[in-house]
Amino acid sequence: MSLLTIEGLPAAEISRLLDLADGFVEVLDRPVPKVPALQGRTIGMLFYEVSTRTRMSFERAAKALSADTMTFSPSGSSVSKGESLKDTALTVGSMGPDLFVVRHASTGAPWRVAEWTGLPVINAGDGAHQHPTQALLDCLTVRQHFGKVDGLQVAIVGDIRHSRVARSTAQAMATMGASVRFIAPRTLLPFDVEGWPVETTCDFDGAIEDLDVVYMLRIQQERGGGDVFPSIGEYVNRFGLTRRRADRLPEHTMVLHPGPMNRGVEIDPAVADGPRSLVTKQVANGVAVRMAVLLDQLSGSEKS
Ligand code: CP
Repeated sequence: MSLLTIEGLPAAEISRLLDLADGFVEVLDRPVPKVPALQGRTIGMLFYEVSTRTRMSFERAAKALSADTMTFSPSGSSVSKGESLKDTALTVGSMGPDLFVVRHASTGAPWRVAEWTGLPVINAGDGAHQHPTQALLDCLTVRQHFGKVDGLQVAIVGDIRHSRVARSTAQAMATMGASVRFIAPRTLLPFDVEGWPVETTCDFDGAIEDLDVVYMLRIQQERGGGDVFPSIGEYVNRFGLTRRRADRLPEHTMVLHPGPMNRGVEIDPAVADGPRSLVTKQVANGVAVRMAVLLDQLSGSEKS
C-alpha cells in the first residue's frame, strides 16, 4: 500500500488518518515523545527537490515512532555521475528500507519508485501534481481550530497553477465538505480548473468578507510562476494578504500558508506572525500527520 495522491481518498478515510494524527499530537506533547510502534523498521527518504518542513518532519515522525531513517539527496550523491532515478531507487532499496518517502520535480516519480522497488511509497511532493501529507496536515489544522472542515468557506490564494499544495489541499477540503474558492490571476489558475470541485475568482477584495480560512500560496518562481503578471507590486496590490486586507477579514477567520513564505509578497509579515496565523501549528501538525501515515502504511505488514 502507498499514499501517492489525496484524490479518491474518501472522507471517512481522511477522518480516520486525522483521528490517528490527533493521538500522535498527544504523544508528541509527552515528556518522552516517543513510542516503539515502528521499532526495527527503516524509512528510505529520496528527496530530489529541496525541502525543510516535509523532510525534517518525516525524519522527526519516523524517529518518534522508533524507526530508523536513510536520507538521500542528489547533491553529494552519484546522481552527479549520471545515475538514474530508477538505479538510485533500486540501489537504496537494496539496503533494506521498508518504505520510501519520495519528493521529485517530475510528476509521477513516486509511482515509478513504487513500481520499480515493490515497496510502499509516500508521495512527499511530485512536481506541481500532489502533496497528500500536506493536505492531511492542513485538514487537521483546520479541524482542530474550527472543530470541523465541513461547511467552512476556504479560499486558496495565489499561484495555484504551479502548486501541488493547492491541488491536494483543495481536493481534501472539498472531500471533507468545505466550499473551496481559488483566488488568483487568470494566468495563475490551472488550465483544467473547470473540472475541479472549486469556484474561481480574480477578485480577492470582493471575496474577503465571507471567508473562514484564507490559505496563501507563494509564487513558484522555480516553475515559472513569476513570469505571468506585470510586476510584484501589482501582484501584491491585488492578491497579497496585506494588513489592510487582513483587517477586513471577519474576526474568526484564520490564515494558513504551507511555507516557505515570501514575506511582503503574498503575505505581510505582521499577518504571518499575527493572531490569525496557523502557520506554525501547520508545521507542528506535519509531524503528527506523518507519524499517522507512516504507521498506517507499515502496520500490519511484515518486515521486508
Ligand atoms: N510545505 C512544504 O512542502 O514545505 P517544504 O518544501 O519545506 O517541505
